Amino acid sequence: MKNNIYSIKGTKDILPIDSIKWKFIENKVHQTMENWGFGQIRTPVFEKTQLFKRSVGEESDIVSKQMYSFKDQSENDLTLRPELTAPVMRAYIQHNMERHYGSLNKLYYIDSLYRQERPQAGRLREFSQFGAEAIGSKNPEQDIEIIFLVLNIFKDLGLDNINILINSVGSIESRENYKKDLINFFEPHKKKLSETSKKRLQTNPLRILDSKIPEEIEILKNAPDIFDYLSKNDKEHFNFILSTMKSCNIKFSRDPKLVRGLDYYSRTTFEIISSDVGSQSAICGGGRYDSLVEKLGGKPTPAVGFAAGIDRILIALSKKEISQKTSSLAIQIICFEDIFNHKILSKILELRKSGLIVYFDTLRRSIKAQMREANKNKVSHVIIIGSHEMENNKVQIKDLNSSKQVEIDFDEINNYFKK
Ligand code: HAM
Repeated sequence: MKNNIYSIKGTKDILPIDSIKWKFIENKVHQTMENWGFGQIRTPVFEKTQLFKRSVGEESDIVSKQMYSFKDQSENDLTLRPELTAPVMRAYIQHNMERHYGSLNKLYYIDSLYRQERPQAGRLREFSQFGAEAIGSKNPEQDIEIIFLVLNIFKDLGLDNINILINSVGSIESRENYKKDLINFFEPHKKKLSETSKKRLQTNPLRILDSKIPEEIEILKNAPDIFDYLSKNDKEHFNFILSTMKSCNIKFSRDPKLVRGLDYYSRTTFEIISSDVGSQSAICGGGRYDSLVEKLGGKPTPAVGFAAGIDRILIALSKKEISQKTSSLAIQIICFEDIFNHKILSKILELRKSGLIVYFDTLRRSIKAQMREANKNKVSHVIIIGSHEMENNKVQIKDLNSSKQVEIDFDEINNYFKK
């Protein structure tokens, strides 16, 4: 059928059977975030393109290759958000949140993002993240709270096979010396580097560290370790995090090459990998970004956060049973005669108002078909309404768990379920 219109490559529809799983994750996130003192922030789907260029960085893959950027009717340069840290910081500055809400602001989000990547399992062009940003504290306790927060949510969701990778990319000052030595290290290998890495050698040599090209990975084995270049304060900060994680029995691996693909990080960077997802195994990325607020025009404000990919988490959870039941009481109305439907519809309105889940067949199908619906809907009770019952203003209620059936007054249905 060539005239049909299909969804865009790399996007997907979430049908009711799957949205149950989405709700399961979203509910857990809302609940935990509120318990931990994080308040939800929602920002617009599109922003000025400049916001992402200035924060994520012109040389990053996201800005240079993946953004959905366009001009609107008034020739404004706009971009569908490819990430949420920059929009949240923009909002933080714009609403003067420090002045209005205090020196420590803890925010969280659940939203969709847009990146024009090559679609594959776990890599979409429209995808969703939940994440948190703690703005105002420069201390490692805040990094720890952020890491523990996401680990706690992952545990509640039932994610088992995960591995935490952690690194420190140092403050801007300590990174400068490292950059110089890294450039010197790559100099004799320059010919073997890809065109992208050659360019990055000039613009941002740290980004070569997370190269996926086998030849470059081989060269990188002997690259200097950023840890040796960290200042005393950077090291203290990093060691506090590592020793706290150890004392809390949290397993992690230090990955000296974890620089992350976004330019705004300083000091701590981390990723959480799941072996249940396939090749796109990163289910969470985060870190500290102490100079971003200032870079976007605010006053110097340290911050740290994370974002976790919901689409990938769902792949990791795909073998787990996620309960569909929202309430133990659900009713199917089984009606023998269509002529009573107007009376029944007003009763259904009443029942639904009182919080009951009620199913009613608007197709005017046979009793057999209505019973099949009851099974499909996994209801706890059926209300059987036939002409004999209606003439006497009665209904039959059958409890499908106990198979007990009772006859009650039509006007008593609500009270029956209240009991
Ligand atoms: P990110 O590493 O770009 O970091 O993304 C975080 C997570 O989003 C990834 O680990 C992955 O699970 C998911 N994700 C990314 N791209 C895709 C895609 N194309 N399809 C499906 N899932 C994807 C950030 O976005 C930073 N803003 C995180 C952060 C918050 N850093 C500090 N605060």
